[in-house]
Amino acid sequence: MSEQTSREQAKQLWSDVDGYVSSLHGGPDPALEAALEASAAAGLPPINVAANQGKLLHLLARATGARKILEVGTLGGYSTIWLARALPEGGSLLTLEANPLHAKVATESISRAGLAHLVEVRLGLATETLAKLASEGAGGFDLVFIDADKANYPSYLSSALELAAPGALLVADNVVRQGAVLDATGGDADLRGIRRFHELLGADPRVDATVVQTVGTKGYDGFALGIVAGSGAR
Ligand code: SAH
Ligand code: DHB
Ligand code: MG
Repeated sequence: MSEQTSREQAKQLWSDVDGYVSSLHGGPDPALEAALEASAAAGLPPINVAANQGKLLHLLARATGARKILEVGTLGGYSTIWLARALPEGGSLLTLEANPLHAKVATESISRAGLAHLVEVRLGLATETLAKLASEGAGGFDLVFIDADKANYPSYLSSALELAAPGALLVADNVVRQGAVLDATGGDADLRGIRRFHELLGADPRVDATVVQTVGTKGYDGFALGIVAGSGAR
């Protein structure tokens, strides 16, 4: 069996297990399905988190009691909907997106999901929006989900730490990239951004972090998870 074939078979198996798990824990979800359909109809790339990963984000937001969430990278609003559904009444989610079409599709899907009163989609380059938020003294986010362009992950980490409330949870998607993260010499700007992100995350005394590798319909990748200093364990 070629290496290519065994990798494809592995991916099929991971996908089938995702489907099995989602069929037990998920049930039909019209708003999320409509969001994916609207994204596909508008030609957005299907690079949203998988259903079980969205559910994980949702559970993490509930487990931490997040009242104020920041998301970097909206796409069609799929992960946004999972996260916003975890908010209590009076909570809020700010999601940053550079592509006007993505922002428009997301805004519509978020409205359709009945979450418009909790969510703001802010259009612009996230590095610029984050710098503006910091200069305005905006902050106090209880959960930050980083999922935009990988080359800027180091900058997003720095902003997230500035804008996070004490004890906040940081989550970042796509930090393993099929194991390409081990490539210390080659790689593109995205990979270099992810590697720098790991180095900064590991070295920064303001955050205590780990990485969970993931397999499934999205292939082989991983989430970084970290707690910002300021409350809880030493
Ligand atoms: N979180 C989404 C997926 C995000 S995909 C989900 O799981 O449903 C990454 C998104 O980041 C894309 O929509 C892309 O347009 C956006 N993006 C890329 N570079 C950006 C930048 N510099 N600033 C803001 N958004 C950016
Ligand atoms: C891809 C996947 C992602 O989760 C993401 O945030 C960006 C790109 C991809 O598969 O290309
Ligand atoms: Mg992602």
